[in-house]
Amino acid sequence: MFNEPSLIAMLNLREMLAESRAAIERRCATAPRIGIVLGTGLQRIADRCTIECTIPYAEIPHMPRSTAPTHRGQLHIGSWSGVPVAIMQGRVHYYEGYTMQQVTYGVRLMAALGIHTLVLTNAAGALNPLFRRGDIMLIADHINLMGDSPLIGPNDDTLGDRFPDMSDAYTASLRELAREVALDERILLREGVLVAVHGPNLETRAEYRFLRTIGADAVGMSTVPEVIAAVHSRLRVLAFSILTDECFPDALQPVSAEEIIAAADRAAPKLERLLAALLPRVDRQANPTL
Ligand code: HPA
Repeated sequence: MFNEPSLIAMLNLREMLAESRAAIERRCATAPRIGIVLGTGLQRIADRCTIECTIPYAEIPHMPRSTAPTHRGQLHIGSWSGVPVAIMQGRVHYYEGYTMQQVTYGVRLMAALGIHTLVLTNAAGALNPLFRRGDIMLIADHINLMGDSPLIGPNDDTLGDRFPDMSDAYTASLRELAREVALDERILLREGVLVAVHGPNLETRAEYRFLRTIGADAVGMSTVPEVIAAVHSRLRVLAFSILTDECFPDALQPVSAEEIIAAADRAAPKLERLLAALLPRVDRQANPTL
């Protein structure tokens, strides 16, 4: 049915994942239950964990390397708040020139390692005028304006469905938990829709006006492809944006990458506290017998 190059590409992905997984399992005995991706400015969150092993992406066969500022490019396996975790300290972005398959390879690898839940973090610009720089936004849903999808091409039915349902992409029961824990921890948690653009330029005033009009509360250059691959891999998903700048078209101020990173840095301890309290409950929700 498939032309030959597509069939080879599909078989390759499965084999590549098996090779990457074997390389990790040779170095680390822990089986992670939750996978975490640390985005821009959030790299230091990894210091909170009890790390059993750290593997640079360069030492994982087939894993693409991050070139983005602040993204360290290593996989940690260990535990956080008593939960076995795999932490991607740094991600690769579409704007770096990687394919969507490469952008989502780390997520597929963590799925192959056996995680049940994926927790994603990123830095994003606020579009909702009620939101402020430094706020944390729980992502409730997304709009993919990247013009591409990690699922384009032949589908490997052993990895996921051809047409995965996206009606509960950001698992509702996990968002409920996140709201509860944020309340307990007295952390203001916004909630809204993330629109993903390919970047790497930030947007014009007219683009911000358009993105707000179509229903987005925040805009970023990552996360959405990873969520699509995670849903395809049948993972539960929880995702947070740190709002690093205010993208209000009628009051727009210039912003630099350094300012975005600094704003994410300042808000990171809040997200770290939220995750530390949340992870054991996320784990218990997936495994009620634990
Ligand atoms: N657009 C605008 N501002 C941002 C972005 C973006 O993609 N990411 C972080 N701040």
